[in-house]
Amino acid sequence: MHCTKKITDDLTWVGADDRRLAMFEGVYSVPGGVSYNAYLLRDEKTVLFDTVDKAVRQRFLENLAHALEGRELDYLVVQHMEPDHSAAMRDLVSRYPAMKIVCNAKTLAFIRQFHDFDIGARVEVVKENDTLRTGRHTLRFIMAPMVHWPEVMVTYDSADRILFSADAFGCFGALNGALFADEVDFAKDYMDEARRYYANIVGKYGTQVTALLKKAAALKIDMICPLHGFVWRERLGHIVAKYALWGGYQPEKQGVMIAYASVYGNTENAAELLACRLRDRGVPAVMFDVSVTPASEIVAAAFRWSHLVFASTTYNAGIFVSMDALLHDLVAHNIQNRTVAVIENGSWAATSGELIRKKLAGCRNINMLEATLSIKSSLKNEQLAEIDAMADAIADSLPAANNEQTREKAGVDVNALYKIPYGLYLLCVKENGRDNACIINTATQITSSPCRISIAVNKANLTHGMLQRAGEFNLSVLTQRAPFEVFERFGLRSGADTEKFADADGDGRAANGIRYLPDYANAMISAEVVETLDCGTHTLFLADITEASVLSEEPGVTYQFYLDHVKPKPQPPPGDQKGFVCKICGYVHEGDTLPDDIICPLCKHGAADFEPI
Ligand code: FEO
Repeated sequence: MHCTKKITDDLTWVGADDRRLAMFEGVYSVPGGVSYNAYLLRDEKTVLFDTVDKAVRQRFLENLAHALEGRELDYLVVQHMEPDHSAAMRDLVSRYPAMKIVCNAKTLAFIRQFHDFDIGARVEVVKENDTLRTGRHTLRFIMAPMVHWPEVMVTYDSADRILFSADAFGCFGALNGALFADEVDFAKDYMDEARRYYANIVGKYGTQVTALLKKAAALKIDMICPLHGFVWRERLGHIVAKYALWGGYQPEKQGVMIAYASVYGNTENAAELLACRLRDRGVPAVMFDVSVTPASEIVAAAFRWSHLVFASTTYNAGIFVSMDALLHDLVAHNIQNRTVAVIENGSWAATSGELIRKKLAGCRNINMLEATLSIKSSLKNEQLAEIDAMADAIADSLPAANNEQTREKAGVDVNALYKIPYGLYLLCVKENGRDNACIINTATQITSSPCRISIAVNKANLTHGMLQRAGEFNLSVLTQRAPFEVFERFGLRSGADTEKFADADGDGRAANGIRYLPDYANAMISAEVVETLDCGTHTLFLADITEASVLSEEPGVTYQFYLDHVKPKPQPPPGDQKGFVCKICGYVHEGDTLPDDIICPLCKHGAADFEPI
């Protein structure tokens, strides 16, 4: 029975899941299965984007026939010739005699290499930026060589702003009834598999991935349809930002990945001690036994972490077999821009350390820490100092924590930041029919084309989570006429225990259905999030403006104006009260000491804004 999914009125997913495959490409375990995606566009002409692997060929043919509803298939666009996407091509040739095959010259050569059917007059060869008009839709073909094979191209549908992205933005894992990334908890359940897919399948081709991202940046994209994994229709910036890091071989996390190969546990013991010493220094560390964990997971972790430690026993006068294979994989996948430390073991003639260094010598921009820790059979007491020295060297090579002590040491006077004139804005969101809002002071226009702004939102705010999930918001630019009541209601109370719009009337909703504040704002801006950046306490949201209007000519309120003219001055606490008062909102933290990490529960300011009573 067919099993298709509707994407838009014109576009249908006609692919299939495979949960029986043990090893993808014969190398990568896929415990969660894999999807082979194919898409049918039904316009005045019908267009199929790629086919599927032979394992799911039958289901795909049923899906396609059902989605065509008796129509002919006019075009097959071949974006990638790897057989997991082209195996069913010859079935189509016999079933749909009028079907044209749209591909580039390299693909045509591959079709002839893989297949025996006579492609003859069927083929329409395209090159960079050629277009195919199918009725309402115009398809533009964009070459993406080596993402992942040389013939790869992607297709942009300008009518619905859809990028058919071939292997790019793909993910291991069956779809299990979902199709869109926003239908699952992608960050929690699938990001590791997306990274493992990227690092192992296209990780070697970071330069080519970066070139494709550059081409894609010039397009207005509302949806990404890859050949594996989920379709992206919301928060596209989330996966695009990851690709920008991965393609540039930049780590996602500062911290250490320790991979060790240990026959009798002594090398593991040294690796474990190093992990403990790193944690003692506040450095995150993850560990992998290379004889147990599949190499594809360790390669993915190496793409994630900034520092790599390789610990290996010496075996047959060389590197231990599983470590040797891992290093070969990492070099083949072009790992670069990492800091590396090495631990070797050998009961006689330890050589693995030097050989590991040699293996990685050709990788670009590897900061190889000087000393190899060399163990003879097992670690001895007198070598603990060497473990400490390695932990110190790693910790010292990490970027300094941007905390109060390091700021002070570097001569950073945070008062300088208060001289930046900040405006004040009401950020309104809506999720599952519920309105919420908070006051923010960080909104800036980033570019005029595309018309894009950024806002930063404290993660402690309820609005933050709602915005992350909903992906759109309204910003009201508050005026000097806004009374303290507005700041108190939206800025000093939490939406977790207050319905902030409880007594608001029905006015003040923009076309996106989200509230704004017509009375005390001089402008209203609606925007959709295209990208996010985790900034520790805050998230930076980059958003495209979808609607904007001027509401009045009153001047906007700055933070300084608010402090000087709107906000009531904190009342002095009773004479016998001990503690610290928030200079911003007057909240009192009682006690003899002020925690370094205190966040004011009312206004969310940190320790720097408290003073002793
Ligand atoms: Fe799933 Fe490069 O193919």
